[in-house]
Amino acid sequence: MTGNLRSAIPTLTSLADIGDDSLQHLLARADALDQLLSSNGALPASLSGITVANLFFEPSTRTRASFELAATRLGAHVINLDMARASTVKGESLLDTIRTLHAMNVQLFVVRHAGERILQPVADALVGQYLAIVSAGEGRADHPTQGLIDALTLLQRFGNLEGRTIAIVGDIVHSRVARSAIHVMGRLGANLRIAGPAGFMPPAEDLQEAVRCASLDEAMDGADVVMALRIQRERMTEEGTLDEMGYFTEWGLTENRLAHIAPDALVMHPGPFNREVEIASEVADGPRSLILRQVALGIPVRMAVLEWLAQELDA
Ligand code: CP
Repeated sequence: MTGNLRSAIPTLTSLADIGDDSLQHLLARADALDQLLSSNGALPASLSGITVANLFFEPSTRTRASFELAATRLGAHVINLDMARASTVKGESLLDTIRTLHAMNVQLFVVRHAGERILQPVADALVGQYLAIVSAGEGRADHPTQGLIDALTLLQRFGNLEGRTIAIVGDIVHSRVARSAIHVMGRLGANLRIAGPAGFMPPAEDLQEAVRCASLDEAMDGADVVMALRIQRERMTEEGTLDEMGYFTEWGLTENRLAHIAPDALVMHPGPFNREVEIASEVADGPRSLILRQVALGIPVRMAVLEWLAQELDA
């Protein structure tokens, strides 16, 4: 496949890097693709002739599976590399891995990595190549497609996010999901609140667009949506064990607590979640939960993103 060589390769590493037109396009296109998927409508072969490589250096279930399903539904060929057995283990850099696969005619790269803000420099080093890179989650920094999923989940429910109050609670400081959600939902007009244990709150200069609350109840009071976050043990450098029962008592989402403080609130969690630690099963599996809707929207959102990147390749 050939195309125009550009001064920058198409990427999606942070929603902060895309303009309002692109953001609105991705959300509207994902919504349209969701309707097509729901009605078994004919899907466009937008990625026909393209090969997508999934490079996941960190564990994943929903992001990896939905990127693969998204790509195959648009007609792409997909390869999933087992990065624990790839040549990066032998010292090959991510840049050289991408160059190597591109020599085999792979054009779209989906990368999850523990490093932060490493993908854009890799993309910058590949200028002139006919390829595109999308983040599937970079360290604590960003998870742009999850941000789109979370925004679309609420847009489908509310129509728009103007004036809606969204409380994000738990392990904020280690969460790329929180960063992307706060960015995109704030851009769409929502009021954001954050709350968590002292060790899980970001420094004062970080995430200033969200109002800080001192307790779960304060964050939830009058909220339209409460999003719980997974405790990101893999990003913690401190020694010691977490008192899960104590955490659940103070920060866990329970039906009793919601019924008293935010009786109409919807509940989200990007997953994977720890039952009876961050969220009670009765809430996660109950009628106010949007968790599986978030999972389902992973496919159309990632279809929209891959299709957009493929179009950008030829723009
Ligand atoms: N929400 C999310 O990124 O889940 P996975 O780690 O399973 O991909």
